[in-house]
Amino acid sequence: MSLRLGDEAPDFKAASTIGDIRFHEYLGNSWGVLFSHPADYTPVCTTELGRTAQLKDEFDRRNVKVLALSVDTLSQHQGWIRDIEETQQTKVVFPVIADEDRKVAGLYDMIHPNASATATVRSLFVIGPDKKIKLTLTYPASTGRNFNEVLRVIDSLQLTAGHSVATPADWQQGEDVIVVPAISTEEAEKKFPAGLRIVKPYLRYTPQPE
Ligand code: BEZ
Repeated sequence: MSLRLGDEAPDFKAASTIGDIRFHEYLGNSWGVLFSHPADYTPVCTTELGRTAQLKDEFDRRNVKVLALSVDTLSQHQGWIRDIEETQQTKVVFPVIADEDRKVAGLYDMIHPNASATATVRSLFVIGPDKKIKLTLTYPASTGRNFNEVLRVIDSLQLTAGHSVATPADWQQGEDVIVVPAISTEEAEKKFPAGLRIVKPYLRYTPQPE
């Protein structure tokens, strides 16, 4: 069965380009992004891993550890990383898991037989420090993911985990947020001293809390 939001992210031990990894231990108290790609030495995947590497400082700033995965071998990963670094002018320092026996792909339901019998689809999981799944994304092989969107969702997840707020459509860091319906307006006035903008009784904005 596929994993759902709030489920525990399955733990695993796997070979990776930085050595053997025990997933939960590797994450520690950090957030995690685990994402699969269909195959090494393919163009869209090359841009995806390159872009993720270029965004290293952004992931670090949010205390997020990134791990990529495909069912290719460690030596294929190592050769391909050299290509990624050369073509995308970056350094791939995050681990790329070699899931040759498809153990992790199975645990995370990353092979969708009606798309491909053998290759992993573009699955992406954001995992919280509590090891629970906070976001799932599934893209087809032909569409590269938007890693700025992944960062945007992580910003929302980290903000809403600590405050009684939600983020509106297309929200970006620094913009007004929505007061969750569970909080009364009287309570919200105390909780959000920066003020409320009440559009409807159920649609109340406040400046993004610190
Ligand atoms: C790619 O990463 O470029 C790709 C992989 C599998 C199918 C199509 C494209």
